[in-house]
Amino acid sequence: MSRWNSTNRRSPSPVTILAAVLLLLSIHPSLSWRPWPHQKNNSTDLQFETSKKYEGSSEFVKLRYHMGPVLTANITVHIIWYGTWPRAQKRIIRTFINSISATAAAPPPSVSGWWKTVTQYTDQTGSNVSRTVRLGQEKNDRLLSHGKTLTRLSVQSVIKSAVNSKTKPLPVTPKSGVYLLLTADDIHVQDFCQNVCGFHYFTFPSIVGYTLPYAWIGNSGRLCPGVCAYPFAVPDYIPGLKPVKSPNGDVGIDGMISVIGHEMAEMATNPLLNAWYAGGDPSFPVEIADLCEGIYGTGGGGSYTGQMMNDGDGATYNMNGIRRRFLVQWVWNHVVNYCSGPNALD
Ligand SMILES: *[C@@H]1O[C@H](CO)[C@@H](O)[C@H](O)[C@H]1NC(C)=O
Ligand SMILES: *[C@@H]1O[C@H](CO)[C@@H](O)[C@H](O)[C@H]1NC(C)=O
Ligand SMILES: *[C@@H]1O[C@H](CO)[C@@H](O)[C@H](O)[C@H]1NC(C)=O
Ligand SMILES: *[C@@H]1O[C@H](CO)[C@@H](O)[C@H](O)[C@H]1NC(C)=O
Repeated sequence: MSRWNSTNRRSPSPVTILAAVLLLLSIHPSLSWRPWPHQKNNSTDLQFETSKKYEGSSEFVKLRYHMGPVLTANITVHIIWYGTWPRAQKRIIRTFINSISATAAAPPPSVSGWWKTVTQYTDQTGSNVSRTVRLGQEKNDRLLSHGKTLTRLSVQSVIKSAVNSKTKPLPVTPKSGVYLLLTADDIHVQDFCQNVCGFHYFTFPSIVGYTLPYAWIGNSGRLCPGVCAYPFAVPDYIPGLKPVKSPNGDVGIDGMISVIGHEMAEMATNPLLNAWYAGGDPSFPVEIADLCEGIYGTGGGGSYTGQMMNDGDGATYNMNGIRRRFLVQWVWNHVVNYCSGPNALD
């Protein structure tokens, strides 16, 4: 049962928010809740940083297919829980992943409706990204095999440890497996909270022994919720902006869900960074979720989240999963050439 009270997260006034965004931009040249780790200095992305995010705008976006593979086989998501992970937090994340292909288990607008946009992407043989996403094996790295601070490279070593473990190693399935390294709220990761909330890449055979698509996403709940769990928390330096209530009662985890969605959509359509992306520089690709970052509903763009929904308890969400609600950013729909999501009002 969901009430369709639309929430328009419009900021106090356009002038205030413009000032705030300029302030933000001066602190972090790229908007801080951008999950991709690098600045895209002179890519089209940066040039249109404040204007690209309105749905319906397509003239500047040149999303191209670069002939590489997309994830067309049933996708299996293997999770590495790094650090201390309360069971309640794991449950929220597992439910989100299980909701991706649960077409009958949740009323629209649903997580599976959101994934449908991702399945519109094909490879050179015309095969679509898989509709099926399943939870695979899980590995706990509670004792922090690589310490409390991870670098971009040591993230790969954590994955190596998980697939080479003597006890219950994670299975190696390069064609269908993706690996999510999820770090607990006291773990520092290179660039985390600066301009990065998560990233995806693939492992190097020289480190891990295989080429495997993986993503890292951090729980920002303690370190920087205003940066990575927006709009459930807001940055201190934007006066007057109020956070909204999170749908599962955990600001850090509810914020992670959208970043997990972001990285899943990009891993599926650009797993080896040679398939679907915009921009001229393959080392700084602008991918299908980057293009719609911060957009959660109709009218979203710039600093404006678009129309979301409120549940009976006043929490804000935009899609239903299996017995839970989530707020997940939209992704680029290359068929219609704009950002789309299951809660679109048209
Ligand atoms: C981006 O450009 C600015 C100056 O225009 C420069 O200081 C900065 O180092 C550049 N960043 C990257 C990642 O190239
Ligand atoms: C992929 O998933 C679909 C639907 O869940 C299932 O019917 C099919 O057997 C699976 N294919 C493989 C190769 O596992
Ligand atoms: C595959 O993608 C194409 C667009 O690229 C779309 O027209 C088609 O409906 C998709 N097929 C499935 C089964 O989703
Ligand atoms: C960035 O801009 C510089 C100077 O304007 C140019 O030489 C370079 O090719 C540009 N890089 C990309 C990726 O567009």
